[in-house]
Amino acid sequence: METHTLVIGSGVAGLTFAIKMATEFPHKKVTIVTKAAKGESNTKYAQGGVAVVSDLKEDSYENHIQDTLTAGDGLCDPEIVAMVVKEGPLRLAELMRWGANFDCDTSGKLNLGKEGGHSEYRVVHHKDITGFEIERALLKRIAALPNITLLPYHFTVDLITGHHFSTTASSPTSCYGAYVMDEKSGEVFPIKASSTLLATGGMGRLYGHTTNPLVATGDGIAMAYRAKADIEDMEFIQFHPTALYEGKEGPAFLISEAVRGFGAFLRNGKGDRFMPKYHPKAELASRDIVAQSIDNELRKSGDTHVFLDCTHLEMTAFKKHFPNIYKRCLDAGYALEKDMIPVVPAAHYLCGGIKVDRHGRTSIRNLFACGECTRTGLHGANRLASNSILEALVYAHNSFVYHKANPLQPSPVAVPPWKDNGVSYPQDQNAIEQQLKALQALMRTSVGIVRSQEQLQKAEEQLALIYQEVTSLYKHSKMSPPLCELRNMVNLAHLIIGQSLKRTTNKGGYYKVDLIDNTEEIRGTEPLLCL
Ligand code: SIN
Repeated sequence: METHTLVIGSGVAGLTFAIKMATEFPHKKVTIVTKAAKGESNTKYAQGGVAVVSDLKEDSYENHIQDTLTAGDGLCDPEIVAMVVKEGPLRLAELMRWGANFDCDTSGKLNLGKEGGHSEYRVVHHKDITGFEIERALLKRIAALPNITLLPYHFTVDLITGHHFSTTASSPTSCYGAYVMDEKSGEVFPIKASSTLLATGGMGRLYGHTTNPLVATGDGIAMAYRAKADIEDMEFIQFHPTALYEGKEGPAFLISEAVRGFGAFLRNGKGDRFMPKYHPKAELASRDIVAQSIDNELRKSGDTHVFLDCTHLEMTAFKKHFPNIYKRCLDAGYALEKDMIPVVPAAHYLCGGIKVDRHGRTSIRNLFACGECTRTGLHGANRLASNSILEALVYAHNSFVYHKANPLQPSPVAVPPWKDNGVSYPQDQNAIEQQLKALQALMRTSVGIVRSQEQLQKAEEQLALIYQEVTSLYKHSKMSPPLCELRNMVNLAHLIIGQSLKRTTNKGGYYKVDLIDNTEEIRGTEPLLCL
């Protein structure tokens, strides 16, 4: 199969880029492949919204820039931050023109929410299902563009680069598309493309306990890594402070940070409100600080969870803003007028990823990347709440602008067919499950919110054993999406542990107990504990 533009992933980043390319180049074919149903992505589950300066009388670019830089704890690229923040309003307006609806007040002005780390009300939202609404609008537009083919249940196994040809690979390597598996037939076939964009999202599943859906297995980053692209800042995993605690592993329901922006308090098992002793902004400190503080309370008490208290809030307005959260908590047995919500931090967002320039160009020629799978310089050591969809929109646009100015032509090379390993034994599902569980346990216990050099070194050794098992499974069983996902997650764990071991200062979402630093100043005097 051949296409002009290959987009891998169907969240806000991939869909926005595809729409722009297909509209600008109506005679060029755009193909979107996605490994699950067409809208299944991290975007779909985003609750809070999109951080944008939408009214310059009430807010300013400088404030949004400063909040982003503060959250990023000194590791953001200030030029990138300014570019993304200033482009935000244009991209939001475009999304609204494309049919995405956001909540407005009676005068028609956008109704803005507040989240941790923001100095102003600036989070544009659609109730508490903002991502779902954005996906709906984008998929509708995609359906109306005849030159877009969307292939759901197609798993991308690997990128096609110079390394797949017998001739010597050019330097820097070029990308020629990807090998893709039709999940129904199991057939792997090449899709040759002039331009390939990775928009494959995050990797929360690596931790088991995550706010991400099951599809978040870091596939794009792992593929780019195997193709030798530059990957950076992988040690900065963001843990969302408030996932609903239900006493089980696996994906957890997110209680949006906007609920704290609405006035909810965090309380420990004794009923004490603890955040004021960690940070002057209390519950509205940035996410890294709130998650580390909760983790500390849990280590001190031995409890499994803390509580989010909404009982003092005005419930009519609360239910209007957060109908989905209210209902989901009620279904779990918590009536928020009288019951506090049990919550615990969970893996939420990867701040690092495939290194890209401001046009979304990776270090591999003709390979672009956009959204959570990238490291742009916007987030630094900790992403500011609701800056992720903003980043995806801006970079989808910038990549498109680059393509418009530099149209890519099809390469004359003949792409080789997929070489399978000739194995037809069915995969050993139990063995895959077992290795996945071992990997998740390793990441949770040794590469979590608070780390230590010793734990990381042990984790590296244990990962080497898992790597051997998974490599053997990959060589000796018939290829399947769960096996490929496991292989990808092992690659990601290698990158996260390796880059964590190299970090010599604590910054943002990265906290290693062995490092002496000056974080006390911003975190209060409560010491953080590590088991
Ligand atoms: C949330 O609603 O708390 C999540 C939003 C985000 O991750 O930025």
